[in-house]
Amino acid sequence: MKKIIDGLSVNLEGNNNNKPIIFVHGFPYDSTMWQSQIDLLKEKYFCVAYDIRGLGESPAGQGQFTMESFVDDLETIINELNLEKPILCGLSMGGYIALRAVEKFEDKFSAIIFCDTRADADGNEGKLKRAAAIKRIDSEGLAPFTKDFVTNCFGENFKQNNKNEFENRITKSTAFNPVGVKGSLLAMMGRNDTTEYLSKIKIPALILCGEFDALTPPSVMKPMAEKIKDSDFVLIKNSGHMSPIENPKEVNEAIIKFLGKL
Ligand code: MLT
Repeated sequence: MKKIIDGLSVNLEGNNNNKPIIFVHGFPYDSTMWQSQIDLLKEKYFCVAYDIRGLGESPAGQGQFTMESFVDDLETIINELNLEKPILCGLSMGGYIALRAVEKFEDKFSAIIFCDTRADADGNEGKLKRAAAIKRIDSEGLAPFTKDFVTNCFGENFKQNNKNEFENRITKSTAFNPVGVKGSLLAMMGRNDTTEYLSKIKIPALILCGEFDALTPPSVMKPMAEKIKDSDFVLIKNSGHMSPIENPKEVNEAIIKFLGKL
Protein backbone atom coordinates (compact mmCIF):
# COMPACT_ATOMS: atom_id res chain seq x y z
CA MET A 1 0.00 0.00 0.00
CA LYS A 2 1.26 3.48 -0.88
CA LYS A 3 0.77 6.32 1.58
CA ILE A 4 1.77 9.96 1.28
CA ILE A 5 3.30 11.37 4.47
CA ASP A 6 4.31 15.02 4.43
CA GLY A 7 4.65 14.75 0.64
CA LEU A 8 6.82 11.61 0.82
CA SER A 9 5.84 8.46 -1.05
CA VAL A 10 5.86 5.65 1.54
CA ASN A 11 5.39 2.00 0.63
CA LEU A 12 3.89 -0.13 3.42
CA GLU A 13 3.85 -3.92 3.26
CA GLY A 14 2.89 -6.48 5.88
CA ASN A 15 0.78 -6.32 9.02
CA ASN A 16 1.20 -3.11 11.02
CA ASN A 17 0.89 -5.08 14.29
CA ASN A 18 4.21 -6.74 13.52
CA LYS A 19 7.65 -5.36 14.37
CA PRO A 20 8.42 -2.48 11.96
CA ILE A 21 11.48 -2.29 9.72
CA ILE A 22 12.22 0.96 7.90
CA PHE A 23 14.25 0.74 4.68
CA VAL A 24 16.14 3.82 3.49
CA HIS A 25 17.51 3.57 -0.04
CA GLY A 26 20.76 4.78 -1.59
CA PHE A 27 21.52 7.48 -4.16
CA PRO A 28 20.29 7.85 -6.91
CA TYR A 29 17.72 5.09 -6.35
CA ASP A 30 14.31 4.68 -4.76
CA SER A 31 12.47 2.37 -2.37
CA THR A 32 12.05 -0.33 -5.05
CA MET A 33 15.68 -1.34 -4.47
CA TRP A 34 14.49 -3.20 -1.33
CA GLN A 35 11.82 -5.35 -3.02
CA SER A 36 13.66 -8.69 -2.52
CA GLN A 37 14.06 -7.99 1.20
CA ILE A 38 10.46 -6.80 1.59
CA ASP A 39 9.09 -9.86 -0.25
CA LEU A 40 10.84 -12.05 2.28
CA LEU A 41 10.21 -10.05 5.45
CA LYS A 42 6.63 -8.83 4.97
CA GLU A 43 5.15 -12.06 6.39
CA LYS A 44 6.63 -11.42 9.83
CA TYR A 45 7.51 -7.71 9.82
CA PHE A 46 5.78 -4.45 9.00
CA CYS A 47 7.97 -3.15 6.15
CA VAL A 48 8.16 0.61 5.59
CA ALA A 49 10.16 1.72 2.53
CA TYR A 50 9.97 5.35 1.45
CA ASP A 51 11.38 7.43 -1.37
CA ILE A 52 13.78 10.03 -0.01
CA ARG A 53 12.55 13.56 -0.75
CA GLY A 54 13.44 14.58 -4.32
CA LEU A 55 14.02 10.98 -5.53
CA GLY A 56 11.63 8.36 -6.90
CA GLU A 57 8.02 9.42 -6.39
CA SER A 58 8.75 11.90 -3.59
CA PRO A 59 8.60 15.39 -5.13
CA ALA A 60 11.68 17.60 -5.02
CA GLY A 61 9.88 20.82 -4.05
CA GLN A 62 12.48 23.60 -3.78
CA GLY A 63 15.22 20.93 -3.79
CA GLN A 64 17.31 22.40 -1.01
CA PHE A 65 17.98 19.46 1.27
CA THR A 66 20.36 18.75 4.13
CA MET A 67 21.13 15.46 5.86
CA GLU A 68 19.29 17.01 8.81
CA SER A 69 16.14 17.59 6.74
CA PHE A 70 16.35 13.98 5.49
CA VAL A 71 16.52 12.81 9.13
CA ASP A 72 13.56 15.06 9.98
CA ASP A 73 11.61 13.31 7.20
CA LEU A 74 12.47 9.92 8.68
CA GLU A 75 11.34 11.08 12.12
CA THR A 76 8.08 12.38 10.65
CA ILE A 77 7.38 8.97 9.12
CA ILE A 78 8.10 7.19 12.43
CA ASN A 79 5.78 9.58 14.29
CA GLU A 80 2.98 9.60 11.70
CA LEU A 81 2.89 5.79 11.53
CA ASN A 82 3.32 5.44 15.33
CA LEU A 83 6.18 3.01 14.79
CA GLU A 84 7.27 1.42 18.04
CA LYS A 85 11.06 0.90 18.22
CA PRO A 86 11.55 0.10 14.52
CA ILE A 87 14.59 -1.64 13.10
CA LEU A 88 16.32 0.79 10.76
CA CYS A 89 18.04 -0.41 7.57
CA GLY A 90 19.89 2.01 5.28
CA LEU A 91 22.13 1.64 2.25
CA SER A 92 24.84 4.17 1.43
CA MET A 93 23.07 7.59 1.48
CA GLY A 94 20.28 5.79 3.34
CA GLY A 95 23.02 4.66 5.73
CA TYR A 96 24.15 8.28 6.22
CA ILE A 97 20.55 9.14 7.16
CA ALA A 98 20.37 6.11 9.47
CA LEU A 99 23.71 6.93 11.14
CA ARG A 100 22.71 10.51 11.82
CA ALA A 101 19.25 9.42 13.05
CA VAL A 102 20.87 6.95 15.47
CA GLU A 103 23.29 9.65 16.61
CA LYS A 104 20.36 12.00 17.25
CA PHE A 105 17.77 9.65 18.76
CA GLU A 106 19.07 6.12 19.16
CA ASP A 107 16.39 5.35 21.79
CA LYS A 108 13.73 5.36 19.08
CA PHE A 109 15.25 2.26 17.41
CA SER A 110 15.70 -1.36 18.46
CA ALA A 111 18.41 -2.37 15.96
CA ILE A 112 20.22 -1.09 12.91
CA ILE A 113 21.36 -2.54 9.60
CA PHE A 114 24.01 -0.64 7.67
CA CYS A 115 24.49 -1.74 4.05
CA ASP A 116 27.37 -0.48 1.93
CA THR A 117 27.80 2.84 3.70
CA ARG A 118 30.32 4.85 5.69
CA ALA A 119 30.44 7.10 8.77
CA ASP A 120 33.05 9.61 7.61
CA ALA A 121 31.96 12.80 5.85
CA ASP A 122 33.10 13.92 2.39
CA GLY A 123 36.70 15.10 2.28
CA ASN A 124 37.94 17.79 -0.10
CA GLU A 125 38.16 15.44 -3.07
CA GLY A 126 34.66 14.11 -2.40
CA LYS A 127 33.21 17.62 -2.14
CA LEU A 128 34.80 18.67 -5.42
CA LYS A 129 33.40 15.54 -7.10
CA ARG A 130 29.89 16.42 -5.87
CA ALA A 131 30.30 19.98 -7.20
CA ALA A 132 31.52 18.64 -10.56
CA ALA A 133 28.52 16.28 -10.70
CA ILE A 134 26.10 19.19 -10.14
CA LYS A 135 27.82 21.22 -12.85
CA ARG A 136 27.68 18.24 -15.21
CA ILE A 137 23.95 17.68 -14.58
CA ASP A 138 23.33 21.38 -15.30
CA SER A 139 25.26 21.32 -18.56
CA GLU A 140 24.54 17.81 -19.91
CA GLY A 141 21.26 16.83 -18.22
CA LEU A 142 20.83 13.86 -15.90
CA ALA A 143 21.41 10.95 -18.30
CA PRO A 144 25.25 10.91 -18.63
CA PHE A 145 25.67 11.39 -14.88
CA THR A 146 23.26 8.61 -13.83
CA LYS A 147 24.70 6.22 -16.41
CA ASP A 148 28.24 6.68 -15.06
CA PHE A 149 27.22 6.74 -11.41
CA VAL A 150 24.99 3.66 -11.55
CA THR A 151 27.60 1.78 -13.63
CA ASN A 152 30.14 2.41 -10.88
CA CYS A 153 27.74 1.16 -8.20
CA PHE A 154 27.17 -2.34 -9.60
CA GLY A 155 29.73 -5.15 -9.72
CA GLU A 156 30.87 -6.68 -13.02
CA ASN A 157 29.12 -9.98 -12.40
CA PHE A 158 25.71 -8.34 -11.97
CA LYS A 159 26.18 -6.07 -14.99
CA GLN A 160 27.04 -9.02 -17.24
CA ASN A 161 24.39 -11.45 -15.99
CA ASN A 162 21.51 -9.07 -15.28
CA LYS A 163 21.75 -6.62 -18.18
CA ASN A 164 18.03 -5.78 -18.21
CA GLU A 165 17.76 -5.07 -14.52
CA PHE A 166 20.94 -3.02 -14.62
CA GLU A 167 19.71 -0.98 -17.64
CA ASN A 168 16.32 -0.52 -15.95
CA ARG A 169 18.01 0.97 -12.90
CA ILE A 170 19.78 3.53 -15.11
CA THR A 171 16.53 4.35 -16.94
CA LYS A 172 14.64 4.77 -13.66
CA SER A 173 17.26 7.08 -12.13
CA THR A 174 17.50 9.11 -15.33
CA ALA A 175 13.77 9.87 -15.07
CA PHE A 176 14.19 11.47 -11.62
CA ASN A 177 13.86 15.22 -11.17
CA PRO A 178 17.39 16.74 -11.61
CA VAL A 179 16.53 19.26 -8.89
CA GLY A 180 16.02 16.40 -6.43
CA VAL A 181 19.19 14.60 -7.52
CA LYS A 182 21.26 17.77 -7.10
CA GLY A 183 19.60 18.37 -3.73
CA SER A 184 20.75 14.92 -2.57
CA LEU A 185 24.30 15.64 -3.74
CA LEU A 186 24.34 18.86 -1.71
CA ALA A 187 22.91 17.11 1.35
CA MET A 188 25.58 14.39 1.18
CA MET A 189 28.30 17.01 0.62
CA GLY A 190 27.26 18.88 3.78
CA ARG A 191 26.67 15.93 6.10
CA ASN A 192 28.45 15.63 9.44
CA ASP A 193 30.95 12.90 10.31
CA THR A 194 29.35 10.27 12.55
CA THR A 195 32.52 8.20 13.18
CA GLU A 196 32.82 9.29 16.82
CA TYR A 197 29.35 8.03 17.60
CA LEU A 198 30.04 4.47 16.35
CA SER A 199 31.64 3.38 19.65
CA LYS A 200 28.63 4.83 21.53
CA ILE A 201 26.00 2.82 19.65
CA LYS A 202 24.25 0.50 22.11
CA ILE A 203 21.66 -1.19 19.91
CA PRO A 204 22.63 -4.31 17.92
CA ALA A 205 23.99 -3.59 14.45
CA LEU A 206 24.42 -5.63 11.31
CA ILE A 207 26.97 -4.37 8.80
CA LEU A 208 26.75 -5.69 5.24
CA CYS A 209 29.30 -4.97 2.54
CA GLY A 210 29.62 -6.21 -1.04
CA GLU A 211 33.05 -7.78 -1.55
CA PHE A 212 33.57 -5.71 -4.71
CA ASP A 213 31.96 -2.50 -3.43
CA ALA A 214 33.98 0.27 -5.13
CA LEU A 215 32.35 3.14 -3.20
CA THR A 216 32.28 1.89 0.38
CA PRO A 217 34.66 -1.09 0.25
CA PRO A 218 35.26 -3.70 2.97
CA SER A 219 38.42 -1.79 3.97
CA VAL A 220 36.10 1.07 5.06
CA MET A 221 33.22 -0.98 6.46
CA LYS A 222 35.14 -3.55 8.51
CA PRO A 223 36.77 -0.91 10.76
CA MET A 224 33.37 0.75 11.02
CA ALA A 225 31.87 -2.53 12.32
CA GLU A 226 34.79 -3.01 14.73
CA LYS A 227 33.97 0.33 16.38
CA ILE A 228 30.37 -0.71 17.14
CA LYS A 229 30.18 -2.84 20.33
CA ASP A 230 27.32 -5.19 19.45
CA SER A 231 27.89 -5.67 15.73
CA ASP A 232 28.08 -8.43 13.14
CA PHE A 233 29.96 -7.87 9.89
CA VAL A 234 28.98 -9.92 6.84
CA LEU A 235 30.83 -9.76 3.53
CA ILE A 236 28.41 -10.27 0.64
CA LYS A 237 30.03 -12.32 -2.09
CA ASN A 238 29.89 -11.51 -5.75
CA SER A 239 28.48 -8.05 -5.12
CA GLY A 240 29.39 -4.42 -5.67
CA HIS A 241 27.87 -1.44 -3.83
CA MET A 242 24.23 -2.50 -4.32
CA SER A 243 24.33 -5.75 -2.35
CA PRO A 244 20.53 -6.03 -1.62
CA ILE A 245 19.90 -6.03 -5.40
CA GLU A 246 23.06 -7.85 -6.52
CA ASN A 247 23.04 -10.75 -4.06
CA PRO A 248 19.63 -10.76 -2.35
CA LYS A 249 20.07 -14.37 -1.25
CA GLU A 250 23.11 -13.68 0.94
CA VAL A 251 21.79 -10.31 2.12
CA ASN A 252 18.46 -11.89 3.12
CA GLU A 253 20.16 -14.78 4.90
CA ALA A 254 22.30 -12.34 6.90
CA ILE A 255 19.28 -10.18 7.78
CA ILE A 256 17.16 -13.17 8.84
CA LYS A 257 19.99 -14.51 11.02
CA PHE A 258 20.47 -11.08 12.63
CA LEU A 259 16.75 -10.53 13.24
CA GLY A 260 16.48 -14.03 14.70
CA LYS A 261 18.99 -13.07 17.41
CA LEU A 262 17.18 -9.91 18.52
C1 MLT B 1 24.79 5.93 -2.54
O1 MLT B 1 24.79 4.79 -3.00
O2 MLT B 1 23.86 6.32 -1.81
C2 MLT B 1 25.90 6.87 -2.88
O3 MLT B 1 26.92 6.16 -3.47
C3 MLT B 1 26.42 7.59 -1.69
C4 MLT B 1 27.46 8.60 -2.04
O4 MLT B 1 27.56 9.04 -3.19
O5 MLT B 1 28.21 8.99 -1.12
